[in-house]
Amino acid sequence: MKTAIVYCSVHHGNTKKLLDAIASENQVDLIDVTQNTDVDLNVYDRIGFAFGIYYSKFHKTLIKLAEEKMPQNKKPFFVYTCGAEKKDITRPLRMR
Ligand SMILES: Cc1cc2nc3c(=O)[nH]c(=O)nc-3n(C[C@H](O)[C@H](O)[C@H](O)COP(=O)(O)O)c2cc1C
Repeated sequence: MKTAIVYCSVHHGNTKKLLDAIASENQVDLIDVTQNTDVDLNVYDRIGFAFGIYYSKFHKTLIKLAEEKMPQNKKPFFVYTCGAEKKDITRPLRMR
């Protein structure tokens, strides 16, 4: 079972810290969208998107990559860090 987490952690590195902890215990490829957008997600069985929330939104690069590269037959999972407690913050991404 091959797993990728595509992430964007541009402000404090909070999301990356979380992902590093996950990757230290699990076999997972961490893909930084600010460094690499030329990814083939078809080779993965599980695909996650991880990000910080900025002004109630996701980073544009991550949205663009999710729209362009997410295989249609797979359901992504999400990991995010934010300052405020807000329910259902991933809804806009899930509705796409
Ligand atoms: C410019 C900026 C805007 C932010 N906007 C929000 C926001 O709208 N809602 C929220 O809950 N947290 C907000 N935060 C807090 C970040 O989501 C939080 O620090 C997150 O862990 C940052 O992730 P990163 O360090 O991986 O980039 C904001 C932080 C910054 C620096």
